[in-house]
Amino acid sequence: MSSSSLAAPRATRRGDDTCVPATDTRSAQAVVRVTGLSKRYDDGFQALKDVDLEIRRGEIFALLGPNGAGKTTLISMICGLVNLGAGQVTVDGHDVVRDFRAARACIGLVPQELHTDAFETVWSTVSFSRGLFGKPPNPAHIERVLRDLTLWGKRNNRLLSLSGGMKRRVMIAKALAHEPSILFLDEPTAGVDVELRREMWELVRALRDNGVTIILTTHYIEEAEEMADRVGVINGGEIILVDEKTELMRKLGRKQLTLHLQEPLDTVPASLSAYSLELAGDGHELVYSYDAATDSTGIAELLTDLKAADIRFRDLHTEQSSLEDIFVSLVRESR
Ligand SMILES: Nc1ncnc2c1ncn2[C@@H]1O[C@H](COP(=O)(O)OP(=O)(O)O)[C@@H](O)[C@H]1O
Ligand SMILES: [Mg+2]
Repeated sequence: MSSSSLAAPRATRRGDDTCVPATDTRSAQAVVRVTGLSKRYDDGFQALKDVDLEIRRGEIFALLGPNGAGKTTLISMICGLVNLGAGQVTVDGHDVVRDFRAARACIGLVPQELHTDAFETVWSTVSFSRGLFGKPPNPAHIERVLRDLTLWGKRNNRLLSLSGGMKRRVMIAKALAHEPSILFLDEPTAGVDVELRREMWELVRALRDNGVTIILTTHYIEEAEEMADRVGVINGGEIILVDEKTELMRKLGRKQLTLHLQEPLDTVPASLSAYSLELAGDGHELVYSYDAATDSTGIAELLTDLKAADIRFRDLHTEQSSLEDIFVSLVRESR
């Protein structure tokens, strides 16, 4: 992939349809700012509850949550597709309600449901998207986008003749046609096979490396773990937590030490009750859980106390909880 066209645009003129920061926010960190956002749908269902969120320029932010958590609602509101209930959203300093066109010009959106006009060609579909933003034609830009997404050879093909992976890339090309600096991907790999998922991940990374801020929603923990610089966990319309992915895993990650015992135990001896111990494997395994983030793990003391209790082990191994374990326990706690 070449580095040119997927780069965040450099604005050359000020106008409603060109993505230009409202104030001098170009150097500021937050490129999207969501404050006190709530949403109640017409049927009375409250889909978002007092959401605050900041997206930093140039990052890949993964909004992770189970189906029905409110991910699509949240990004649809940021993109101005769903009316705001309470709260405020700014995109590059532009209020998405008062200054809709300027805000929208900065945003590319690849929706969860892929709508394509089967009889259109790749070229006209993508060019048309640019026109929707009132931008003057720029065949050179469209060509670069199509080349970068390896769609150039298919530019005259009708969409119905394309594979699923190519159709997805056309949707991304459409979203990039008007040179946005922020790209929203709503469940970019839902229902796609493993190979295509990897291809998408590489593509998204390449976009980020060229300066596009990426916000993706996913219910695949693996995807957030693989892709994100920061992760926001959403459940039941509330943001439960936002953190650097690595911090999240370090802080919330539990470690487990499993000791394979020489002789099985019926119960954990009372002399070891101070430790967080559980028996597993029909009493053949003693599992010690500890906080991976603290300086003192307690392992040295535990081994001393095991010896004093005359409990011998053949082998031991440690395991660090994955983002999946963290996510499952967070979602459970927030219910
Ligand atoms: N137009 C709507 N009217 C009423 N309820 C809706 C509407 N759109 C979504 N919802 C509900 O809001 C909740 C969040 O939906 P959504 O934002 O699509 O979640 P996600 O994208 O995380 O799966 C769901 O319970 C869904 O049924
Ligand atoms: Mg959704």
